[in-house]
Formats: sequence, C-alpha cells, structure tokens
Amino acid sequence: MTLAEHARVHGDLPHRTALELIESIERSGLRGRGGADFPTARKLRAVASRKRVSAVVVNGSETEPASAKDRLLLSRLPHLVLDGAVLAAEAVGAPEVIVKVGATAGGSLQALEGAVSVRADDPVPIQLVAAPEGYVAGEESAVVHYLNGGPELPTFVPPRPFERGYRGRPTLIQNPETLAQVALVARFGEHWYRELGTTADPGSALVTISGAVAAPGVYELAFGTPMTDLVDAAGGATEPLRALLVGGYFGTWVEASEAMRLRLAREDLRSVGCSLGSGVLIALGESACGLHESARVIDYLAQQSAGQCGPCTYGLPAIADAVGALADGAARDGDRDRVLRWGSEIRGRGACHHPDGAVRFVASAMTVFAEEIERHRSERCTALPAGLPVGGTTIRRAVATGRRR
Ligand SMILES: Cc1cc2nc3c(=O)[nH]c(=O)nc-3n(C[C@H](O)[C@H](O)[C@H](O)COP(=O)(O)O)c2cc1C
Ligand code: SF4
Repeated sequence: MTLAEHARVHGDLPHRTALELIESIERSGLRGRGGADFPTARKLRAVASRKRVSAVVVNGSETEPASAKDRLLLSRLPHLVLDGAVLAAEAVGAPEVIVKVGATAGGSLQALEGAVSVRADDPVPIQLVAAPEGYVAGEESAVVHYLNGGPELPTFVPPRPFERGYRGRPTLIQNPETLAQVALVARFGEHWYRELGTTADPGSALVTISGAVAAPGVYELAFGTPMTDLVDAAGGATEPLRALLVGGYFGTWVEASEAMRLRLAREDLRSVGCSLGSGVLIALGESACGLHESARVIDYLAQQSAGQCGPCTYGLPAIADAVGALADGAARDGDRDRVLRWGSEIRGRGACHHPDGAVRFVASAMTVFAEEIERHRSERCTALPAGLPVGGTTIRRAVATGRRR
C-alpha cells in the first residue's frame, strides 16, 4: 500500500499519550509475534520506565525458513508497521526507529525505502539496516550485537536489550506483526481488537501455512479458529495428513488426527505441548516421511548454531547425526533414547534459546514418528521428499479475514 492507500484504508493516526497507548495495548491483550509470545504492554512499560532509551528496533529478520508473514507485511503494508514503530518510539521515549531486515529480503527493503522517503510527519527518524542472515541472527541479542558493530550472533543475557541494547542503552525490540497490531489498536481501540478471537486469546494472527495444502501462503486468522478451518483456508489438504508441525523449527510435531481437534488458541496448543511460535504451520502428508524431514531440519539447525556454547556446538550435531541414522535405518539399539537424553541435557544450557527450540522439535519427532523409527530398522523407506524448506520461503499468496476497519 502506498501512503495514500494506507491512509484511505486505515485512517489517520489518532494522537494518544504514551500512557493511553500502553494501557490500550494492555487491555487488548496483544502478545509478541516473534515467537516468544511475550505480552507487548509489559515490554513497552519495562522500556518506558528506563532512562535514555536508544531506539525501537523492528526485528524484520524473519529467520524461520518456513515463515513469510514479516516479509509480507514489510513489503505490502510497510506504513502500518512503521506507524506501529513510531507510536512505540513515542510511548517509550526512543529518539529513533531502526528496521532490521535480512540481506536477501530485497522486496521488503525496497518497499521500506519507498515508504520512509514519503513519510514527512514522523516525529523520529527511521533507519533501515539489511544484515547477514542465519537462523540465530533474528534472536534479539544477536540483532543488538550486529547493530552495535559486532557479528550477528547472540550474546549472553542478562543484560537483555531492554536493559542494555543498542548503543549500550535500553532498547525496545519488536516483531513487525506485533507493531502492525499496535498501529491497529492505536487507531481502532482494544474493543475492536477483541472482536476477533477468544477471551483468553484475543485478536488475529498471521499464519504461514505450507506443506501438503493446495494454497500455501500467509493467512490472517482469528485466534480460536479450528485447525480444520485453517487447513481449509489454505485450500485444504492435498492428501491424507500424517502430522502437523506447529510453530516452525522451534515448534512441535503433532499427529494429524490430534492436531485437527485443536483450535488456534494458546490453551489448546499447550494441551499438546506446543505453541504457535512465529505463526508457522507445516502440513505433512502421508506420502512423506516425517523422520527424514526432521533429520534434514535438525541437521540445518545444528549448522545454524552460532558455535559459541559447548552444549549447542557439540550437542546439536551429535543429535543430528543420530536422527539421520534413525531416518536411514542405520541406528543402533538405544539411539532414540540417547537422542532424547542428550536433548534434555542440552536444554537451557545455551546463551540463547536456539538449542532449546531445536531439541523441542527433535523430541516431538521422536514421539510422533516412533512407529517410523521402528519400521525403518527393517524396511527401506520409500516416502517422497516433502521438502521442508531450509532456506528462504517465497510469498505465494496472502488472504486477510476482511475484518471491519
Ligand atoms: C534463535 C532465535 C531466532 C529468532 N528469530 C527471530 C526473528 O527472525 N524475528 C523475530 O521477530 N524474532 C525472532 N526471535 C525472537 C526475538 O528474540 C524476540 O523475542 C522478538 O523479536 C521480540 O519481538 P516480539 O515481542 O514482538 O515478539 C528469535 C529468537 C531466537 C531464540
Ligand atoms: S546457544 Fe547455540 S546458537 Fe545460542 S549463542 Fe550459544 S552456540 Fe550460539
């Protein structure tokens, strides 16, 4: 959307004091969409309470290979995200906004450059930064590290960015979707936001759905939407489904029959040990092998370790080798148990949550594909590759709910 289209569709930004905005965000129940699901108002308050805040950083890294929502927002609705960032800067007293995207996100960068060049009324300057990519480059301490002139690798926390971030000062880091929602709540209020969703999980979320569905893409869906409707929104399954990967590569495999009974709601997802993470869903068809796909993904995640912490640097490759052996039918007795044990030993021992996410993914694969593990020991696997992405994902389709604005 151009600035004129954006103003026509969304209307002007009403003036809100910092306190009014933060209270409205709090009443809306908005939570961060970068994966950690952290209450946005709480983070805004934590940064606003500090002195000499340096910046609001829009974390447009989108390092999850199967996610396309942030690039979609930044390339198609840059003004909505920038409105949210500028409002957040006013709310926390930040003198500048920095939008960080991955170096190959050319479409986002081009749209952002165009958008920034026509925004004459912003109270703070907006700087665009294209940074090297890699799975851990989107972790918030890695983002700060890079902006401070270091490599795009996580640092040990605390201090967290809201305590000491960009330029060594308190910094607010938010995902683009979170900021787009901030801009909408600022305009239309928390009651409007709560028109969709459930009491516990208000609003809508952008979900990137891919795999064995007819129309993979980014969909805006109300929280509380049954998983069956979600798959239907993406054109329906192209074959009987074996499992769904919920939450991306830090997420959890769930048996298809179980997943289809759930709603897109925190309590439902938690009941089977998962969360929506950064809004990624991958449908795995019965013609594919979840074990082989998981082996490729864990191999990729092991390669993406920043190589700074022992348990992550040595543990993830060992787990990846063992899962690869299980997939190839070359495993020794006890390999599955060893994978689970190594996973629990690694958990919580890295500077960042990369190993935690990776071992959560693997543990779910060991449970959901237990039958395949046994079968692979005696039979050759003839499944077709599903090709879970381990590079970038292109935006193929985007549909919104058409909620009143
Ligand atoms: C390994 C790793 C990679 C991450 N990559 C991203 C990313 O690409 N984009 C993002 O917004 N958050 C990412 N996060 C989460 C950020 O650290 C941070 O929680 C988020 O940007 C905060 O924004 P939110 O509160 O609006 O969700 C990542 C976290 C980890 C552990
Ligand atoms: S836990 Fe892994 S990815 Fe995170 S900083 Fe340490 S080595 Fe890097």
